[in-house]
Amino acid sequence: MTSTPFGFSKEQIQILKSGGINDEMASFLEWEASTWSISKSIEIGVASGIGSNAIIKGGSPEHHGVDINTRFYRDKNFPTGALALHHQAFYLHIGTVKDVIQEIPKVNFVYIDADHRHPFPTLDLWNMEITDHLEYPFKLILDDIGLAIAYRKSGFPYRGPLILKNALESHFHQELSPEIDMRGIPWPNQCSFVVDNSRNLRESLLQSFSFPFEAELDPAQVL
Ligand SMILES: C[S@@+](CC[C@H](N)C(=O)[O-])C[C@H]1O[C@@H](n2cnc3c(N)ncnc32)[C@H](O)[C@@H]1O
Repeated sequence: MTSTPFGFSKEQIQILKSGGINDEMASFLEWEASTWSISKSIEIGVASGIGSNAIIKGGSPEHHGVDINTRFYRDKNFPTGALALHHQAFYLHIGTVKDVIQEIPKVNFVYIDADHRHPFPTLDLWNMEITDHLEYPFKLILDDIGLAIAYRKSGFPYRGPLILKNALESHFHQELSPEIDMRGIPWPNQCSFVVDNSRNLRESLLQSFSFPFEAELDPAQVL
């Protein structure tokens, strides 16, 4: 078996890359991290840790990963965060944002890629905002915007990231940075947005909450 920088075989890497972002998206994330002066960062929805690894490679000195599963959700042979566990800068928290909020410091780089059903992405950010875990200005990255667009006609759920993006854009009267597919394919999937002090984030999150929910919301998940 050929070994890789992570100490996994090529076959294992293939499995670990099956349930998350691809290499091009990881490059986008690494670039976004490297162009922002990160104090501390968070990724909500770690899976195998491809995204966390990219953010740390991009320069995050302290990166917090939050995931409800202790094992990689696609293949339980691997721990959650397997591709990032070798970094000293990586801290893994098991649970929802609400469950682990007390373990998390204030961050200025937020990557949301967990439950894509509305209102979960908005709720994740809301729970961080109302507990004063966001350091302004912060960079927000949303993943899987394209899921909702690609399946718009079939009424596919998982519009959470898109609804949050639309609410932020309309409230702030500004388009989020262009969604980039590193292969040059115009299939919008990720976007980034800088949220500064002058913007009333709570108001735009409330705007997003006014859209019909795709998932039943357990009040216990709201702080
Ligand atoms: C699409 S994967 C994330 C991929 C990852 N960001 C990457 O870079 O490869 C979604 C992950 O979110 C986790 N998840 C689902 N619902 C969650 C929630 N409410 N809070 C935290 N994590 C959640 C799943 O266990 C899964 O590992």
